[in-house]
Amino acid sequence: MIARTCQDRVIAPSLLAADFGRIQEETSRAIHAGADWMHLDVMDGHFVDNISFGPAVVQAVHESNDIFLDVHLMISRPDHYLPRFIAAGADLITVHVEADHDVAETLRRIREAGLQAGLALNPATPMSAVEPYLDQIDLLLCMTVVPGFGGQAFMEEVLPKIAQAAAWREEKGLRYHIEVDGGIGLATAPKAVAAGANVLVAGSSTFSAPDMAAAIQALRS
Ligand code: DX5
Ligand code: ZN
Repeated sequence: MIARTCQDRVIAPSLLAADFGRIQEETSRAIHAGADWMHLDVMDGHFVDNISFGPAVVQAVHESNDIFLDVHLMISRPDHYLPRFIAAGADLITVHVEADHDVAETLRRIREAGLQAGLALNPATPMSAVEPYLDQIDLLLCMTVVPGFGGQAFMEEVLPKIAQAAAWREEKGLRYHIEVDGGIGLATAPKAVAAGANVLVAGSSTFSAPDMAAAIQALRS
């Protein structure tokens, strides 16, 4: 696995936008189209108003393809389910600051298992909620839609939060990735990158594109 720094552009197609009847082929298609990571959106129907998939799908992707798995837990009890996602083969696990758990302890357990630790916040959550944890993470995910569904419109009001994350990283001498997720495409990616994001999650703009490789290349440039 190529190590990526927060200066590298990382394109992470979201499996949520793929054909669930052909997950192995879809993942393979994304890899051949130039994806750096696969973003796996886990939803429990409680933290968000949708249910997607669990550890068994993460394991299936892990066993059938060789790509870095960026697992986004949109679930209420990430601490309870953590061992199963670690065992499933996740490389990076992102948990929500809004979920009902001891955030620092969950982040510690992820790193203790040898994985990278990510922390996510929803559009309505202030950056003050994540500031205490910035020195305990490898990635900060600034949601650019209200989580639950692909195909939503990018929320421009999140841009100042991305800029704040980049400023704090500089001030505090930290090195976490800044990831954006939701409504990322040709028109919105430049704004997110200009604000400081380097990891771009893209579901519909990659999997639904007529030419996935061209779509990924466009996001990279
Ligand atoms: C939404 C998910 C996003 C979504 C992105 O809750 O977390 O990853 O799949 O999909 P698009 O890129 O279609 O907005
Ligand atoms: Zn996501």
